[in-house]
Amino acid sequence: MSTIFSGIQPSGSLTIGNYLGALSRFPKMQDDNQCYFCIVDEHAITVPQDRLKLRNEIRSLAALYLSVGIDPERSTLFIQSEVPAHTQMAWILQCVAYVGELERMTQYKDKSAGKDGVSAGLLTYPPLMAADILLYSTTMVPVGEDQKQHIELTRNLAERFNRQHNDILTVPEPHIPEQGARIMSLQDPTSKMSKSDDNHKATIFMLDEPKQIEKKIKSAVTDSEGVVEYKPDDKPGISNLLNIYAGFSGESVADISEKYAGKGYGEFKQDLAQVVIDGLEPIQKRYYELYESEELDDILDQGADHANRVANKMLMKAKKAMGIGRVHLKR
Ligand code: TYM
Repeated sequence: MSTIFSGIQPSGSLTIGNYLGALSRFPKMQDDNQCYFCIVDEHAITVPQDRLKLRNEIRSLAALYLSVGIDPERSTLFIQSEVPAHTQMAWILQCVAYVGELERMTQYKDKSAGKDGVSAGLLTYPPLMAADILLYSTTMVPVGEDQKQHIELTRNLAERFNRQHNDILTVPEPHIPEQGARIMSLQDPTSKMSKSDDNHKATIFMLDEPKQIEKKIKSAVTDSEGVVEYKPDDKPGISNLLNIYAGFSGESVADISEKYAGKGYGEFKQDLAQVVIDGLEPIQKRYYELYESEELDDILDQGADHANRVANKMLMKAKKAMGIGRVHLKR
């Protein structure tokens, strides 16, 4: 049995990139693993957020986790800021991390480029992510391709901590899907589909209505050849659409290309829109029921209780290994 941990930021509506790269893979993992799924709200505030919107997004993300099939009887679903051990462990790991390695992180470079007043939290984002993972003795972290570098750093920090202090941290492995690891923008298929893209035509959100989905897929950038085939370097637009089709239908990219041999992009896009709409419909239905329910609060309370118990134990061990806290003469 492996211990799985994954987190998603409540920094905007989730995209089908989040779904295919991460969320859709979680339910199956519950069958024979110990799973922790987290709403990482403390990561979200490393960039400015609107207070009311953030609170809604946190609840919305909790409802989405459950809508895709996270079962609170088998998995622990919780909000990061409700488990204070995360920020305390993050501090310990910041003292193990080097400024240079944090400055070299691609996400930090991308998000801080050309900006004044970049928060210190943006730089120390990766040690907080490492804390999330390491507090639970995680063995496997299911994420999309863009998080690979952060998991690599987590591994380095865990190994360094174990060497310098005491061998208590488990070194985790990333788990990146073969298909859907990197869903691209519909308007610029050379860049990642992202929650925060200003161009809403570039992104399909998990809660988009069927009409919006159809419209966005119809206007997705392709090429002038009119041949449905998977060539990510030469035909990034159509290859991305094939990846999305494969992710939602479970068919292989090769089978789908064969099915559309000799047919134009119009028919392919029409069918793709239907495949995406059909895939999201049951999730959306459950989502709207759950978002309003008190049951959601009970689940998050239970999740926080369990996570606090597990995380506090590891935090105590880490503090002891580093020598912080007091020697108790009374014990
Ligand atoms: P976040 O919130 O940006 O994304 C959540 C998950 O969705 C994946 N993802 C994608 N996969 C494929 N194609 C895309 N276009 C795409 N966009 C996003 C991400 O890889 C991720 O798996 N730092 C993390 C959150 C985090 C975390 C953790 C993850 C905090 N602590 C501990 C795992 C373990 C992040 O910003 O994800």
